[in-house]
Amino acid sequence: MRLLSVDIPRFRNLADVKLVPGPRSTVLVGENGQGKTNTLEAIWYSATLKPLRGTRLAELVPFDRPLEGALVRTEWMLPGGPRRYAVRVLAGERQLEIDGKRAPSLDDYLGATSVVAFTPDDLSLIKGAPDGRRRFLDRAVFGRHPVFLSESRDYARALKARNRLLREGSPEGVREAFDAQLARLGARVWRRRLDLVEELAPQATRAFEAVGRLAVALSLRYRPAAVALDARAEETAFEQVLLEALETRKRLDAERKFTSVGPHADDLQLLLGEKSARLYGSQGQQRAIVLALKIGEIENLRAHRGAYPLLLLDDVSSELDPERNRFLMAYLRKLDAQVLLTTTDFGLVREATGDDVVVMQVRSGAVQPA
Ligand SMILES: Nc1ncnc2c1ncn2[C@@H]1O[C@H](COP(=O)(O)OP(=O)(O)OP(=O)(O)O)[C@@H](O)[C@H]1O
Ligand SMILES: [Mg+2]
Repeated sequence: MRLLSVDIPRFRNLADVKLVPGPRSTVLVGENGQGKTNTLEAIWYSATLKPLRGTRLAELVPFDRPLEGALVRTEWMLPGGPRRYAVRVLAGERQLEIDGKRAPSLDDYLGATSVVAFTPDDLSLIKGAPDGRRRFLDRAVFGRHPVFLSESRDYARALKARNRLLREGSPEGVREAFDAQLARLGARVWRRRLDLVEELAPQATRAFEAVGRLAVALSLRYRPAAVALDARAEETAFEQVLLEALETRKRLDAERKFTSVGPHADDLQLLLGEKSARLYGSQGQQRAIVLALKIGEIENLRAHRGAYPLLLLDDVSSELDPERNRFLMAYLRKLDAQVLLTTTDFGLVREATGDDVVVMQVRSGAVQPA
């Protein structure tokens, strides 16, 4: 799999950007606020249909061209041959094309490419709130199983409907009808996340040994809120667990006007030895963990898809301490993967690149050969 070209007629502050990434590393260099992150986000969005930052669809549309919307086209070499994708955001709607024709389904659009992003936001993963860790997990699940995009959306929709009933104080019978559906959809999310943690944990643990060179071991533990889950149980057993928990907690939920159990309330616990990294890990250890999780995610995709994903690294070097940055750069350099990096200072990422590096300058929403 390889990204052959990117064409961004309009997306945020970018206009008529054409980019031909190198087979290995491509570096986007530029001052602050010029459009480096936006360029990575355009690629990320077109490949995942997820915002890279906490964005709504409308934010992707250039301020000064509200009626034309946003448009990103990418061309890939895939195992089955070259393929062109286009995503358009217009009037709050998303339109998808494959090879110039309307995409038959979301799965067709998302199934074939694979991308991992690493941004400075990721570095607060350990200290931050549980939703950041859930998002990390869900992105990793989505990378393995693109259909998870619709599965997790279905769950979110069912949850929203139940919460609305709780707020409106709807009769119990009405709410119970929703619980069965919520339990079924939630069980699927649990199954996916637990499977992912099981796959990812050994990869991340190994990467942590290499990154951290610390005497403690990293382990990952999925922590469901308010229930216990046996990772080896069937999905139908999860469904039963959730249904029962919803029933047991219905009074509490009615008081709080919010559903207190289910995948949306869970956390991913990261342990150094037996201790919580969130509570006891040093800043350096926490960053080493994030790095290990990312490398784990990349290696996990490689193990299951047979090829490395496209890697998008947004200005990570300036946020890592020099030793971890050196580690990351050396890792990238050895990797047989296509990588796009952004930076304000080429010197920070030089070690990740080889002779075939492509360097581009980003200035005022334009991307030109440097
Ligand atoms: N929808 C939009 N329309 C037009 N401009 C936008 C839109 N969204 C964001 N911008 C602008 O895009 C500019 C560039 O943003 P971007 O995050 O890509 O910068 P950057 O090069 O990554 O900078 P830094 O080095 O500070 O991270 C910002 O100044 C922002 O105001
Ligand atoms: Mg940026």
